[in-house]
Amino acid sequence: MRNDNRHWVIARRPSGDLTTGDLEFRQGPRPVAGKGQIVVRNEWLSLDPTNRLWMQEADTYLPAIPLGQPMRGFVVGKVVDHGDQENFAIGSYVMGIGSWSDYSCGPVANFFPMFDVANASPKDLLGYYYHIAPTAYFGLLDIGQPKIGETLVVSTAAGAVGSIAAQLGKVWGCRVIGIAGGKEKCDWLINDLGLDGAIDYKSEKLSDRLRALCPNGVDVFFDNVGGQMLNTVLNQVNIKGRVVLCGGISAYGKNGRDDTPGNYLRLIVQRIRAEGFVVLDYLARYPEALRAIATLHGEGRLKWRYHDVDSLEDAEAACIDLYAGRNHGKVMVKIADA
Ligand SMILES: NC(=O)c1ccc[n+]([C@@H]2O[C@H](COP(=O)([O-])OP(=O)(O)OC[C@H]3O[C@@H](n4cnc5c(N)ncnc54)[C@H](OP(=O)(O)O)[C@@H]3O)[C@@H](O)[C@H]2O)c1
Repeated sequence: MRNDNRHWVIARRPSGDLTTGDLEFRQGPRPVAGKGQIVVRNEWLSLDPTNRLWMQEADTYLPAIPLGQPMRGFVVGKVVDHGDQENFAIGSYVMGIGSWSDYSCGPVANFFPMFDVANASPKDLLGYYYHIAPTAYFGLLDIGQPKIGETLVVSTAAGAVGSIAAQLGKVWGCRVIGIAGGKEKCDWLINDLGLDGAIDYKSEKLSDRLRALCPNGVDVFFDNVGGQMLNTVLNQVNIKGRVVLCGGISAYGKNGRDDTPGNYLRLIVQRIRAEGFVVLDYLARYPEALRAIATLHGEGRLKWRYHDVDSLEDAEAACIDLYAGRNHGKVMVKIADA
């Protein structure tokens, strides 16, 4: 076990997309739990589009991270110092909001015991069960309200949340069209996930391909991108359609300012319901999602893939790659062995 603590801190506020040098890699002593804190030896760190939002000056659904402070991230690992929090046993697995570091030290409220899902590894529990698959599950089920035979379109369909939402759409009886960047991702959607169609928005004209692949219009749009992509799909959403506002990655590099949905009047004339949500809203219903996801994954009806990053030093570069679409699956940084 290391005695030092490699960690990333926020060196400056990104002015646009995340760039090299916005974060700084530092070395320090292993932290000691203060009052009401625990220390976790991180094994896996999840990199997520929301990381860029946390780096901006303004608060989001979590407070902005002060400059010079450790970069926040979702982690899984074992408790190595429980301070005055004796209900967290040394050596027990926890997951929660930690930092991009060897050790996460934070208020006990930021952590909870690792989920208990049969046959799921700590990597799966953080990578897919913690926030990714529940986001897809609750967003599609509650807001999308898909019905058998309806047409579902999913953006960032080859990404972590998108690929789960797309597969759940198939399980729940929809015709599913995925939007993704590049041939490899589109081939994966068709050949491995069994989607009914895929659109490579980087090389094809989205509006034309949507019209061709959704001749009866779009009933549900699960959107992770916002901006021009949302605007384009809105134009083809049916009367009484639903738009799941899950994410807006096209605007994260603009500090969340998105000025594009010029087609918003479609919401009125088509009586479309568009609703945003944050998966934290659904904590009380997590057991329902975890059961469904575990069952479908066990049956081979819900597949997932990872984009592994082998060292903490590469975390900033990997996060930059995530926004550029160079990830192929859920981005996970390996920090330490069990
Ligand atoms: N509401 C919630 O509670 C909640 C919870 C978790 C995640 N989310 C949201 O879900 C979305 C997906 O997150 P994830 O973790 O699953 O990431 P991901 O999809 O695995 O990775 C992000 C992907 O976004 C795509 N992308 C980046 N910039 C884009 C742009 N300008 N236009 C179109 N596509 C772009 C890239 O795919 P391509 O190669 O296909 O472009 C990239 O691979 C994010 O918007 C995230 O904020 C929401």
